[in-house]
Amino acid sequence: MLQHSGIGVAITGSGSAAPLTSLDNQGLSQVVDTSDEWIASRTGIRQRHLADPAVYLRQLAAEAGQRALDMAGISALDVDLIVLATSTPDDLFGTASLVQAELGAMKAVAFDLTAACSGFVFGMVTASQFIRTGAYKTVLLLGADILSRWVDWSDRRTCVLFGDGAGAVVMQARSESDRLLGFELRSDGNQNSCLTLAYQPEAKALTSELSVGQGSFHPITMNGQEVYRFAIKRVPEVIEKALFKANLSVEQVDWLLLHQANQRILDAVAQRLTVPPDKVLSNMAKYGNTSAASIPIALDEAVRDGRIKPGDVVATAGFGAGLTWGAAIFQWGN
Ligand code: ACO
Repeated sequence: MLQHSGIGVAITGSGSAAPLTSLDNQGLSQVVDTSDEWIASRTGIRQRHLADPAVYLRQLAAEAGQRALDMAGISALDVDLIVLATSTPDDLFGTASLVQAELGAMKAVAFDLTAACSGFVFGMVTASQFIRTGAYKTVLLLGADILSRWVDWSDRRTCVLFGDGAGAVVMQARSESDRLLGFELRSDGNQNSCLTLAYQPEAKALTSELSVGQGSFHPITMNGQEVYRFAIKRVPEVIEKALFKANLSVEQVDWLLLHQANQRILDAVAQRLTVPPDKVLSNMAKYGNTSAASIPIALDEAVRDGRIKPGDVVATAGFGAGLTWGAAIFQWGN
């Protein structure tokens, strides 16, 4: 079904990348007082990939991006726009242009988008606006995060959850169809304190009358139970709204592709929506929570191993810090 201007969106390629180094739960129990049993039973996570200090976000993102371009059968010079969803940039001024340079996508414009674990879904909706207005034909959307830079490695309540990685999709204009069927995005800054990676200023006196704040970003803090409650309430709601806009019922969804935060959240959301477990994509056992990268990594794996087929309806939802949450319903492929 074509909406708006008559220009539709197709998602034509995917790619992913993770650091080579991984740490399993047993190894993590040498860092903090935890166990494989505790982590696996509460979260479903068995291991996570961690970027060593020589790995830059731009490299992981470019690797994932190149794979997505290859699958779509296009070159970096065909890309009009690069959107990089990340909360862990190499450079606070922006990392998307560094990814552009790594890829050689010199005809594109590139910018970062920050919406934590919702970043990929927010990015998909942002990219589709540029395509539907006719402004750009080909978008490379990346979700990439190196949360290991910002985890408090002495806090066992949070450090066991996160991992590093990158994922990407190619989104292209189509005149004959629109594969992005519906979406809904939300945020609530009143609940920001549940999950933060916040800048904390320290006064630096410039003159006797004038000080500026020169502090630093402090590691991730999280109220796990609040985040859990938020996710299992808000995620089903937002998926139902996006399905309504897509004029689809939950039975017509082939795959539920949630942000890979915690297996218990996936199970609870699927149960509330009455989606059977065999339609729920899950790979957090291998990666942990890779924030903006988790959805495109899981998508890419399912596309490459043949589970997701052209035309399949995917209901995806991101949720996390901000707080932010959002869902998009799309059909995979041309
Ligand atoms: N290993 C062993 N014991 C632990 C660990 C650990 N890694 N972490 C906490 N514990 C202990 C606590 O100290 C506590 O013990 P106590 O009762 O003696 O004090 C006990 O386990 C229970 O701790 P809780 O924090 O209450 O554990 P809970 O059952 O809530 O599970 C969890 C914690 C898994 C984080 C859960 O709250 C959760 O899944 N929340 C959602 C969090 C999430 O997914 N965040 C990311 C989503 S948003 C985003 O992606 C950025």
